[in-house]
Amino acid sequence: MDYKTYISKKLDIPSVDKDELTSLIVTPPDKDMGDYALPCFKLAKVLRKSPAMIADELKAGFKTDDVIVSCESVNGYLNFRVNRNALADETLNAVLSQNDMYGSSDMGSGKTICIDYSSINVAKPFHIGHLSTTVIGGSLYKIFKFLGYNAIGINHLGDYGTQFGKLIYAYKAWGNKEAVEKGGINELTALYVRYHKESEKDPSLDDEARRYFKLIEQGDKECNELFNWFKSLTIKEIEKIYEELDITFDSYAGESFYNDKMQPVIDELEEKGLLKTSDGAKIVDLSEYDMPPCLILRSDGASLYATRDLAAACYRKEHYDFDKCLYVVAYQQNLHFRQIFKVLQLMGKEWAKDLVHVSYGMVSLLDENGNQVAMSTRNGTVVLLDDVLKKAHEKCLEIIEEKNPNLEDKENVARIVGTGAVIFGALSNSKIKDIAFSYDKILNFEGETGPYVQYTAARIKSVLRKGGEVGDYSGYELNDDEYQLIAALSTFPDTVKSAAEKLEPFYITRYAIEVSSLYNKFYFDHKIIGAEEKAKNFRLALSKATLITLTNALSLLGIKVPERM
Ligand code: ARG
Repeated sequence: MDYKTYISKKLDIPSVDKDELTSLIVTPPDKDMGDYALPCFKLAKVLRKSPAMIADELKAGFKTDDVIVSCESVNGYLNFRVNRNALADETLNAVLSQNDMYGSSDMGSGKTICIDYSSINVAKPFHIGHLSTTVIGGSLYKIFKFLGYNAIGINHLGDYGTQFGKLIYAYKAWGNKEAVEKGGINELTALYVRYHKESEKDPSLDDEARRYFKLIEQGDKECNELFNWFKSLTIKEIEKIYEELDITFDSYAGESFYNDKMQPVIDELEEKGLLKTSDGAKIVDLSEYDMPPCLILRSDGASLYATRDLAAACYRKEHYDFDKCLYVVAYQQNLHFRQIFKVLQLMGKEWAKDLVHVSYGMVSLLDENGNQVAMSTRNGTVVLLDDVLKKAHEKCLEIIEEKNPNLEDKENVARIVGTGAVIFGALSNSKIKDIAFSYDKILNFEGETGPYVQYTAARIKSVLRKGGEVGDYSGYELNDDEYQLIAALSTFPDTVKSAAEKLEPFYITRYAIEVSSLYNKFYFDHKIIGAEEKAKNFRLALSKATLITLTNALSLLGIKVPERM
């Protein structure tokens, strides 16, 4: 039920646009003022009357009904009360009957949305800098699926470039099978670092590396076997983290997948007169659009990151026929995406308008003293995501040992809560903001954190275990706390839709916090089990509906709810 629209339709002010009127209606925090209110101050200008007079006149003309049960004029405000029982019935029925589908929709049915996220680089460590793209993209993927879209998760692997020639050289010179099998990405990184040291002394190594890279491209059997091995090692290692974060992909088609798909794009650029030669390189001039040129081929004929992205976009359109294609990539690549979207538009691809760069800020980690932990691949001081998760699990276990030492299955709970804290922490702000997180902040059970929401959900599970069957509550009159909670539950489907529309998983984290704090206020101020029969039944049903809604919200973020906490 959209009360604001409903009320504005019933108000008789012909000179004011209905949508504008709807937008003026507010939900006052103080429920003594009613459930909804129309402040008449802005209208005073247009109608040239005092706010109080406007409110009085509107009240006189307003007919209450089954939905809006009262309308009062107080000091220039028009205050409304809704039929709380009807809202409660409607909402509880919807939540309890739809259960894990509550909040879902079929609005996306028949529409395809490609989401390019995480998009890791082969043979490179998976560090905290990859957290945002992974969890923002992973959450958008779940949100769109929940809304009925055909979502395609794509991990556009960084698996192309001379660094793989270097790696092959290094492996052949100093590596061995056992060490790589055992050490995984770490060992590959070590080989890569060694290559750089040695090539400083002997620059001829670079020719060798280029030769190996050429061999990969030309389909040389041995080089490709090594390359594919490095790739599968990387994916296998990182899939463990994906599993922990509840992240999945439908495609791992990375940059090298487009090796044979770039030439047609280059030909098309040529045909359409878009390619220019500059210092031997092929470029698309974008000066007219206030951008530096988009480099398509280097003077030695090598393709670039942008070339592969152009080919990838065309391939995705052809292969998936998407309605939208999202790229969840840090804001450092803003220019890159503006360039390739523009080039595609200049090529006459009308679907270029459906490409969206979902840009986000940086994540950094603060140490115990609140100082930023420095990160540098060169100095080997990257903060590995795996270590962050492990540390979160450990810290969480410490908290549990302290608060609830007799908890069953402690390790598993610590794992679910620690991981949840990291995901929730990364999704707690509008995505474009830089975030600095500390373990203390994300693991605070009383803060606006994942553990706080999980704790609330676990608390409800315990209430429900004790409460037993939900009996009849017909005719029960809701108090303000119950009404606020039910009103919040009723907006979950709209919240999911707004999160999709604005591409902001943060709408879901914010919502989960709001519902949790409303539930906790209700829980601390009102008895559930010891209340009289109808109140008890209603409160149990309300608790159950809250649990379902919180569980659904968390699952859109990839976070699980423990049985006990
Ligand atoms: N691998 C790239 C990086 O780490 C991100 C790729 C993003 N996706 C894309 N289609 N360009 O910077």
